[in-house]
Amino acid sequence: MNIILIGFMGAGKSSIAKKISEKTGDVLIEMDDMIVERSGRKNVAEIFDKDGELRFREMEIEVAKEISTKDNVVVATGGGVIINKIILDYLRKNGKVVFLQTRFTEILARVGGVDGRPIFQDKKKAKILFDFREVLYKEYSDLSVATDNRSLDEVCESVLSMLKNKRR
Ligand code: S3P
Repeated sequence: MNIILIGFMGAGKSSIAKKISEKTGDVLIEMDDMIVERSGRKNVAEIFDKDGELRFREMEIEVAKEISTKDNVVVATGGGVIINKIILDYLRKNGKVVFLQTRFTEILARVGGVDGRPIFQDKKKAKILFDFREVLYKEYSDLSVATDNRSLDEVCESVLSMLKNKRR
């Protein structure tokens, strides 16, 4: 079974996925990195700029399909995977989906003002997107874990113990 971490930009998906991988030995997959490698571009911002967001979203679908054939991997998704239900359908095939839930004020403190995230250029727009997506993250996840004011270790432990209980 795979562990799929979803949540808004800055929710800690990459850091928590890395921790889980260190604890469980599951192979770590960064969806954004897989996409960048395949695209031949430097980074996500360059894909958005040169190929367009639509192409990026198509590549998310391709990568999700490939991940669905894997087992025992922990996946840090991009914050926009819930836009296309087909992506979640692939990821859920062989995985449990965990929503890392973080308040917007905390997100702002973590990523506000940082370049390289094409979707986070305008804070007002980002807040609207946050509210809209929150509903979808909840809808598509098997469980939610709060990350505000908690250490990476605490969140990692919560994710693993909640997943264990789910399987019982
Ligand atoms: C996006 C989030 C980014 C990246 C891309 C689009 C989004 O990933 O996939 O910039 O639509 O929220 P992170 O959530 O890792 O920042």
